[in-house]
Amino acid sequence: MAPTRAFDVVIWGATGFTGRLVAEHLARDYKTGVKWAIAGRSQERLEKLRLELSEQYGSELQEVPILIGDLKSQPSLDSIASQTTVMISTAGPFALYGTPVVDAAVRSGTHYVDITGEAPWVSKIIAAYHEEAAAKRVRIVPCCGFDSTPFDLGALLVIDHMRKQLGKQPAKVLNAVMGSKGGVSGGTIASGMNAISEMNSNPALKASARDVYSLVPEEAHGSDGEFWGVEWCPELGKYLAPFVMQVVNNRVVHRSNYLNKYDGGSSTLRYQEAVAAKSWLAAKSVQLGTLAVVGAMGQSWMHPLLKKLLPAPGEGPSRETMMTGYFKNRVVGWTKEEGGAQPSVVQAEVADPHRDGGYWGTSRMLLEAALCLALQQQELDASPEVLKGGVLTPASAMGIFLVERLRNAGQTFKILEGGASTA
Ligand SMILES: NC(=O)c1ccc[n+]([C@@H]2O[C@H](COP(=O)([O-])OP(=O)(O)OC[C@H]3O[C@@H](n4cnc5c(N)ncnc54)[C@H](OP(=O)(O)O)[C@@H]3O)[C@@H](O)[C@H]2O)c1
Repeated sequence: MAPTRAFDVVIWGATGFTGRLVAEHLARDYKTGVKWAIAGRSQERLEKLRLELSEQYGSELQEVPILIGDLKSQPSLDSIASQTTVMISTAGPFALYGTPVVDAAVRSGTHYVDITGEAPWVSKIIAAYHEEAAAKRVRIVPCCGFDSTPFDLGALLVIDHMRKQLGKQPAKVLNAVMGSKGGVSGGTIASGMNAISEMNSNPALKASARDVYSLVPEEAHGSDGEFWGVEWCPELGKYLAPFVMQVVNNRVVHRSNYLNKYDGGSSTLRYQEAVAAKSWLAAKSVQLGTLAVVGAMGQSWMHPLLKKLLPAPGEGPSRETMMTGYFKNRVVGWTKEEGGAQPSVVQAEVADPHRDGGYWGTSRMLLEAALCLALQQQELDASPEVLKGGVLTPASAMGIFLVERLRNAGQTFKILEGGASTA
């Protein structure tokens, strides 16, 4: 990459619900020390955003540069990408609007982060760009929002503890949602519906998307699967029910395992995601509710009706919903043992007690990932624990460096008292 670029980060899709939150975090918390610009397709909407930012956070923001691009004009995107160290993309559905932006980033030698939760699209990006990005030492990192950062980094945290403190490999990791509160945006609904419509019209894509190993090469597939049942977890003293975001996070954690070789490259790691519930009945209700929502979303003919009932693109949860939201995950890891020995159990908490994970949290995670790549390049380049290029995951591209940044931003990533106990 050229040593000096005009910007550290550029937000492509800044006019959207989540893109605007990223710009707000920069305007409020990084008044100095970061060179940034906003980008998109509409000069008018970007000027309106800049005016609103300057009214809210200071008149100096009237100077934030605006860059215009057009998804149908690759040179316009190349021009934006070549001016920045890191391209942030929040313009989704990514299956519709994402690929030309990644293409521009890889060609320009620009690191890239986004907030897609569309695993089938990520699979296409890996096939098209992983090798070139790896050869150029360009870090392309999708899934830097709530899907899948807290889950991917939570798994890394307990696995790191097992490997470094206990000298053991992981056999299994469970990420359990203990509680959460937040809302949903129209952009997320549009992306989910688009992904489902694409899968419904392409059986091969659907089959691949259902595979928890859809983001790793064939030779690295193991025998893990999704969790759609109800079961008791003695370590948590709770029942477990299915968690819908497993259809993204599972794939990302398995890619991190493949890239970071958590299990020594044996493809034996098992990964489970779940919602924790107090009683069997509560867990059963979560399971049936989740299956009903997934079933309704899976019917393309239901989409026009759902679109009328749910937020439209550009809309999202209110400030109050985000400010009074929270998420709290418990990560449980079991070590791999030989000859029937009892595994050690490591537990961690990953949470934001004060903000919702889906939008406020997502925009913060995305920004901190971008700033990690832009401002901590030397540390990342020198660390043996992160990869230097390719289509990566938050854990494999930034690992503990990103954990530190998110802790500083108010999120919780902690190994729980005692660190490890015998099951
Ligand atoms: N990972 C997570 O946890 C997470 C959380 C939140 C959102 N997301 C994902 O992030 C994406 C954005 O969500 P959102 O709610 O912020 O969406 P949104 O409010 O609808 O914003 C979409 C953005 O994309 C831009 N865009 C749309 N079509 C474009 C085109 N043809 N050319 C250039 N720009 C275009 C829009 O620009 P204009 O203003 O010019 O229309 C806008 O800036 C979705 O895919 C969503 O699923 C993920």
